[in-house]
Amino acid sequence: MSTNVLNTPSGTVLIVGASRGLGHAMAAEFLRKGWNVVGTIRKGSGRTKLHDLTDEFEGRLEIETVDICEPDQVAALRDRLSGRVFDICSSMPALATTRLKRSPM
Ligand SMILES: NC(=O)c1ccc[n+]([C@@H]2O[C@H](COP(=O)([O-])OP(=O)(O)OC[C@H]3O[C@@H](n4cnc5c(N)ncnc54)[C@H](OP(=O)(O)O)[C@@H]3O)[C@@H](O)[C@H]2O)c1
Repeated sequence: MSTNVLNTPSGTVLIVGASRGLGHAMAAEFLRKGWNVVGTIRKGSGRTKLHDLTDEFEGRLEIETVDICEPDQVAALRDRLSGRVFDICSSMPALATTRLKRSPM
């Protein structure tokens, strides 16, 4: 990831697959830089490393659930986030990162 993105004025990033690995590391780094983060885990994951960040960055991290292989869950997440505006969307299970022009979901 370019450091230029992290150093731009903070916004909101959606990270699918933030329970561990790169997604968790990205969530932590965006939070440290002042961004708001919506990070997803899979249902039934229990407490993940992402939950530890909610204590440190209270109010700026929201945890959502989705399994991208389950169309019903993807549709439900889309509905829950409907109208929200994300500057960046990143998906770890199907790796892709997109810088958005502040488009609503
Ligand atoms: N790590 C590297 O060095 C590296 C290098 C090049 C490319 N990549 C790519 O970068 C991506 C992330 O790598 P990583 O090492 O961070 O992987 P990882 O440690 O396996 O983490 C993957 C994340 O995606 C979640 N996930 C997996 N399947 C999912 C599904 N069906 N629905 C929703 N979430 C799901 C996992 O959740 P759970 O905890 O529930 O499993 C976890 O949060 C991968 O696409 C990988 O191929 C990684």
